[in-house]
Amino acid sequence: MPNPNKQGRKIAINTGGGDAPGLNAVIRAAVLSAERRGWECYGIRDGFNGILMPDEFPDGSGVYRLTRKTVHGITPLGGTILGTTNRGNPLKFPVKQSDGSFVEVDRSDEIIAGLKARGIDTLIAIGGDGSLSIANVLAQKGLKVVGVPKTIDNDLDKTVITFGFDTALSFATESLDRLHTTAESHHRIMVVEVMGRYAGWIALNSGISGSSDAILIPEIPYDIGKVAEALRRRRAQGRRSSIVVVAEGAKPKGGTTTVIEKEVGRAERLGGIGERVGKELQELTGQETRVVVLGHLLRGGTPTTFDRLIALRFGAAAVRALEEGHSGIMVALDPPSVRYVPLEDATRRMKTVPTDCDTVLTARDLGISFGD
Ligand code: F6P
Repeated sequence: MPNPNKQGRKIAINTGGGDAPGLNAVIRAAVLSAERRGWECYGIRDGFNGILMPDEFPDGSGVYRLTRKTVHGITPLGGTILGTTNRGNPLKFPVKQSDGSFVEVDRSDEIIAGLKARGIDTLIAIGGDGSLSIANVLAQKGLKVVGVPKTIDNDLDKTVITFGFDTALSFATESLDRLHTTAESHHRIMVVEVMGRYAGWIALNSGISGSSDAILIPEIPYDIGKVAEALRRRRAQGRRSSIVVVAEGAKPKGGTTTVIEKEVGRAERLGGIGERVGKELQELTGQETRVVVLGHLLRGGTPTTFDRLIALRFGAAAVRALEEGHSGIMVALDPPSVRYVPLEDATRRMKTVPTDCDTVLTARDLGISFGD
């Protein structure tokens, strides 16, 4: 006998922050699972802009109905059918003043009111640390909220893995495989910069899987002299090419992270460390060096089977969590299960690479230099 209290439930779904392969799979699983329970789903466009910036959606499509039909066939698609943004945190929304300066305004109440006006009191928020911190505040203000952990960076705490990471990692590893042959043919050093923000998960895991010779990650500040020494040693042993993987957040000992730009209302953009490392290594080793920045290629493409599956599991688990009456939680992978953890705990700290973890030890045992 269906529970009459659960009939007519309306769930909003949004995707926030940088896109990641698997977002669409979460959306599809959530919509199908909700429909099976007789509930309705609504997509909010571009983070929360569908509610906060109605002028951008003059046809009223800022919040729109998602059905089995609208999510048909989207599991293998990269990106997000809802659109996303990593600008304009609604808790610190930048509003330009007449003198050109900005003040930050908390617009979270407008989100809750915008949903309420549409008869919606529930949100499935799919995002990384920033988006889930916002979701946590909305939950504290009374909205029923379940978070789903997304990011290619894998830097979210309290889940073994985020979806999107495996796809990014697979692409980075394949890129390294391809670079080996050209590096070998030209006897060059290839420096490969990968995303990951302040965590080195992508660099570390792809660097090992793709047989690199040095890996520079934010968690282990490097000494460029030591990296050059490791590459010179290889040369002396007859190895005429080398591959160096650099996380965008890597920094030299005593130095700082390389930032491309810092704009009002958004996180700083990292990047440029690959060029710096490449230039320095060419000078120090005398060996011709080329730099490849994988950048946003890591965010594109179809999700791997692993990412699809955890994304589908997360989407279905989010709806189960709502049915069980949970709010203010994030679904998290804790193999072999998906469990629920408080959003508060998941967003308290960034998950970085423990410098004594087995993966770092493995790299060291394989003779890979961290420049330390
Ligand atoms: O968090 C995902 C991520 O791709 C980071 O690895 C990277 O630093 C950032 O987003 C890039 O953001 P944007 O899309 O604004 O360039």
